[in-house]
Amino acid sequence: MPAGFPVEGFRSGREYRAQPGDIVITTYPKCGTTWVQHIVYLILHEGEPLPAGRSMTEEIPHLEEVGREAVERLPAPRCIKTHLPFDMTPSHPDARYVYVARNPFDCAVSFFHHTRGFVRLYDFADGTFDEFFEYFLAGEVDFGDYFDNLVPWFAHRTDDNLLFLTYEQMKAAPAEAVVAIGEFLGPDSSRAVHDQVALERIVRHSSFDSMRKDPERWSSKRPDGMPEFIRKGEVGDWSNVFTRDQARRLADKFARRAEGTDLETLWPDILAAARA
Ligand code: A3P
Repeated sequence: MPAGFPVEGFRSGREYRAQPGDIVITTYPKCGTTWVQHIVYLILHEGEPLPAGRSMTEEIPHLEEVGREAVERLPAPRCIKTHLPFDMTPSHPDARYVYVARNPFDCAVSFFHHTRGFVRLYDFADGTFDEFFEYFLAGEVDFGDYFDNLVPWFAHRTDDNLLFLTYEQMKAAPAEAVVAIGEFLGPDSSRAVHDQVALERIVRHSSFDSMRKDPERWSSKRPDGMPEFIRKGEVGDWSNVFTRDQARRLADKFARRAEGTDLETLWPDILAAARA
């Protein structure tokens, strides 16, 4: 857990009993959580973006930060975010779970900048990617090992109450992702995303460029010189950061953790590039 999260929030968050109708956005950190939070928010608010001065964490709080009581006070449908692994996430067959996966290479780079930027939480403002990579590979980062999160959620990807998306697929076809999320969330949301005007608004307001505006909606202000929370938003930037050896070591770990699964089908090109 991040050092800044109260222990009590974690303990109490795990006691939350999911309800029918709950919408749970579940991810490993840096995989597109905030983007999907805003899409869900937009779908539920007729395409009106989260206004400047408001914070996403008030609208769609982080379960293991705020704890059970805060979530129980939310109006229906309760929308929450979590980075908990599958077997710790409050489960209900009539709650809806939207999982977003991102390739571990770009995730690691994004996580590195994230960790550098929270100067009060981590003594890592001057940390290097080489240092962070070793922590990431060992799973010794906030919320634990990337694969411990991804592998079990992926195994449930065809569950009726789970929509499994990838960041890369959302980047390639954002409108399709918005429609898939809307259809998954129920009849009212489905109607919203099938209205062309509303769909266009949702896609526009959830775009990278729109979300870069008023960044304090998503995260506390970053110190000068540190990257913004909505930072680069690209697929494949890892190849400018990783050494050959780092790419191969992470691809090797991927292969070990993917054994017996179809996980490699998510990012065949990226894995091939990492092994080249
Ligand atoms: P980068 O650091 O690679 O830019 P999370 O919300 O899970 O912490 O994920 C953050 C990552 O998602 C960051 O990646 C951020 O820039 C990216 N992101 C946030 N909003 C986005 C959007 N609308 N489109 C594309 N990427 C977005």
